[in-house]
Amino acid sequence: MGPEPILRLATLVCQTEVLHSALELDVFSALAEGPLTELELRNRLGLHERFSLDFLDALVGLGMLTKDAGRYRNALVAEHYLDRGRGTYLGEYAPLVTGSFQQAWGQLTKGLRTGEVEAQPRGGFVAKSHEDQTRFKAYVDVMDRLSSRVGKDFAERFDWSGFKDVGDLGGARGHLAAVLVSAHPHLSGYCFERPSAQQFLEEHLAEIGMTGRVGFVGGDLFADPIPEADVLIYGQVLHGWENSEREKLVRRAYEALRPGGMLLIYDRMIDDERRDAQRVLYSLYMRLVSPMGSEYRSVDCEKWMRAAGFSEICAEPLLSTHTVVIGRK
Ligand SMILES: C[S@@+](CC[C@H](N)C(=O)[O-])C[C@H]1O[C@@H](n2cnc3c(N)ncnc32)[C@H](O)[C@@H]1O
Repeated sequence: MGPEPILRLATLVCQTEVLHSALELDVFSALAEGPLTELELRNRLGLHERFSLDFLDALVGLGMLTKDAGRYRNALVAEHYLDRGRGTYLGEYAPLVTGSFQQAWGQLTKGLRTGEVEAQPRGGFVAKSHEDQTRFKAYVDVMDRLSSRVGKDFAERFDWSGFKDVGDLGGARGHLAAVLVSAHPHLSGYCFERPSAQQFLEEHLAEIGMTGRVGFVGGDLFADPIPEADVLIYGQVLHGWENSEREKLVRRAYEALRPGGMLLIYDRMIDDERRDAQRVLYSLYMRLVSPMGSEYRSVDCEKWMRAAGFSEICAEPLLSTHTVVIGRK
């Protein structure tokens, strides 16, 4: 047996760095205008001949470009998400996530030994410095790209005709609720968040032309009244807490729902057998960036929902990264 699996793990950083450079040089936006040869790309992007061919072919090997008769094109995924000219551009995500990963993962051995890690600067609604605010804005923009995809999925997945309102609990700046009420205009919606989020929500709703369509409820999900609704959502909220708090949050949602209402809980839940390395790695990441957070299994979430009184509980895949657990009151 050769050591290849170990070498592959030890060299994963090469792949990340190739992607970063491609984004920095805007390879994908250049190719969005049409296929180019290595020489054309080299001239267009100002690449050195010593590096360019290997770099471009590495991007082909990594599935970001295709090469046909000596001409490079964006692969479908790059065309959709890495062309700066598109509304679906996700290019900021890579450096942002790598930057926060480097800081967080550097503490893994310390975390493993002590159970504790240093608080991570992830911004927050009360970010003070300009640098913090810029980083926070980039972070929330990326989160909202995900909320857009989740919102579109939920808007199509469920029959909303029997529901009249939706509350997104821990809904950041109200984006998911905004997507749902704009897809189903008969719905009204609110976002429950910490009071410091109000200004961000109002600015964001104004930016996307949804002022007044999503209400703001400022408070603490553990202590303050949750307004009643037909549908409530916890998106990536339970992963910030321990099991006892998760159970409490689920119970509080049950109490706030009207009879016949529906609770949706989504997170990057761990598969039941705990075999999906990607999911378990995200759970470790949560442990590194939050004092008590981690991911959890959908079977555990179903158990908390049953204990709270929910029925017709089921878990379904969401996007290709998350799981949504659904329960009815
Ligand atoms: C990881 S973010 C998820 C935001 C959004 N749901 C999404 O998926 O993009 C968790 C959010 O829950 C909010 N949150 C956590 N605990 C809360 C509490 N006790 N009261 C109110 N909001 C809370 C945080 O402020 C944060 O915006």
